[in-house]
Amino acid sequence: MRLWPLLLLLPLPAAAQDAAQGRALYETHCLACHYERIHKRDPSRSLVKSHAGLRVEVAKRAGLTGRVFSPRELDDIAEYLDRSHYKLQK
Ligand code: HEC
Repeated sequence: MRLWPLLLLLPLPAAAQDAAQGRALYETHCLACHYERIHKRDPSRSLVKSHAGLRVEVAKRAGLTGRVFSPRELDDIAEYLDRSHYKLQK
């Protein structure tokens, strides 16, 4: 029996982004087109200027993977990329 839908019913604290989960999602779905070094390009060339902007960019790119991501999963990916590469102020 698949129990994972029940997890969606558990209350979560606000701002409970899970960077480890985001990393797993990123590594599974996002590396088809680019290596992580795209997130290390010079800030003047980066499309990402803020955490909110990163979240928007993640949502846009997610559409390219052919998989549907929940808002929570997009938060987790943005959190992972922010912590691992961008180090933006929230
Ligand atoms: C179909 C190919 C493709 C897939 C799949 C893809 N990307 Fe990308 N992504 C790109 C390309 C191409 C660029 C560079 C665009 C540019 O420079 O204008 C990019 C750029 C980005 C950037 C901006 C980098 C920067 O600092 O300027 C982020 C963030 C990003 N992708 C996140 C993701 C995430 C998260 C996923 C998975 C949900 C993902 N991408 C999946 C093609 C892809």
